[in-house]
Amino acid sequence: MIDTNRQDYKKDLEEVIFMFSSGENISISHFEENDGKTFKDKFIFLGKEYNFTNHKQIDGELELKRYEKRFSKLGLYKILAEHFKVDYEWGALTGIRPVRMAYSLKNDYEKELKEVFYVSYKKIQLVKDVLKTQENIIDKDGKYSDLFVSVPFCPTRCAYCSFVSEEISKCKHVDKYIDTLVYEIENSLKLCKNLRSVYIGGGTPIALKNEQLIKILKVLQPALNGDIEFTVEAGRPDVITEEKLKILKEYKVNRICVNPQTFSDKTLTLIGRKHSASSVIEKYNLAKNYGFIINMDVIAGLPEESFSDFKNTVDTVINLNPDNFTVHTLCLKKGSILKEKVKRLEIGEISKMTDYAYNSAKENGYNPYYLYRQKYAADNLENVGYSKPQKECVYNIDVMEETSNNIACGANAVSKRVFKEKNQIERYGAPKDILTYINKVNEIIKAKEQLFS
Ligand SMILES: C[S@@+](CC[C@H](N)C(=O)[O-])C[C@H]1O[C@@H](n2cnc3c(N)ncnc32)[C@H](O)[C@@H]1O
Ligand code: SF4
Repeated sequence: MIDTNRQDYKKDLEEVIFMFSSGENISISHFEENDGKTFKDKFIFLGKEYNFTNHKQIDGELELKRYEKRFSKLGLYKILAEHFKVDYEWGALTGIRPVRMAYSLKNDYEKELKEVFYVSYKKIQLVKDVLKTQENIIDKDGKYSDLFVSVPFCPTRCAYCSFVSEEISKCKHVDKYIDTLVYEIENSLKLCKNLRSVYIGGGTPIALKNEQLIKILKVLQPALNGDIEFTVEAGRPDVITEEKLKILKEYKVNRICVNPQTFSDKTLTLIGRKHSASSVIEKYNLAKNYGFIINMDVIAGLPEESFSDFKNTVDTVINLNPDNFTVHTLCLKKGSILKEKVKRLEIGEISKMTDYAYNSAKENGYNPYYLYRQKYAADNLENVGYSKPQKECVYNIDVMEETSNNIACGANAVSKRVFKEKNQIERYGAPKDILTYINKVNEIIKAKEQLFS
């Protein structure tokens, strides 16, 4: 915990503490003062006083607030990094969108990431690579929209997963949910100006029965002009069937995911995925026959996995040659069953894994094209999407960099309107709970109409 005179960014300081300790047993006091030119931070930790001073000319109130906060965070990071003898690759950067930050820092981003956040050269290079891949794709003028549809159901829950989703056989309201969702989509299509992608995400959308899935796909058809990008996060190989693939194809879906997470059967059992490694390959080949652009998700740092397990996963993915693959770093919320079970890997081991994925991707013609970070990620590392040239998923870029409007439908879906001129984003989040969502759908539709009016 931290006792600070800067309540306005206490939470940000707590995030730095959390990087090192999950918040337990650390007690720090902090006093910050500045006159707009000289910035002073005093910390007391374990009875010792630490002082940091910097002189810098800052123009504008907003910039000043930003700098005060960043300078305090860096001071705290330095104290804890020294105490715990750990240096994280992302340094004092706690934000989840480093690339978006680079866009906002414009030409100064490299210097700022290095000097104000202590980000490593390697991660700055990663940000640079992503910016380069996004160069001709990013919605510079904020003129596009994307449509998101949330299907928060799964065949069963995987032990590590932090997404909001229910086991489909245990939910009594699936039909009612689908009907409400279809109604909301019908009423949302008029809000989609210059639509450039549609994304049905999960959960596992194809865990639905055929007729439920078709209802959603049908109502989306008027939005699908030309060969607009249309993704379904098919996901778990145990529910990918030839019948489902045919349906997706018939309704103009052009991208899907077939997610291994790992190619170790032992790990798959441990994390509660009800499929084998070989079934991933079988379903991938089946989906390939239908001509979908395919993404494969993998996770670095899964329980009991060594570097060679992860290397085997990446090598197998690259051998299969999908258009995209995404490398997540395991991120376990406090109190989750798996968190209690997982043996923490040595600091640096997961970094070796993500470095291997990065290097192999580049050697095999993939570029990193989007990047984000999550709280509680092992070693504070990141998630990176890799793509063959011209096969990038535009939806992922738009949603991560928050450059386009997002019209989101369903429980827990967050709609965003981008005001490019004001450099501002307004959001509306629908309720997480399925029944609350069903009962409030008219209110939700109205709120979204207001957001996009
Ligand atoms: C919304 S999930 C949907 C994927 C799909 N249902 C499946 O299981 O194949 C998207 C991805 O997030 C990643 N993911 C989920 N929970 C995670 C966690 N706790 N740590 C790291 N990655 C996670 C997985 O790679 C997963 O494929
Ligand atoms: S990883 Fe996928 S299938 Fe597993 S619980 Fe999460 S969303 Fe559901």
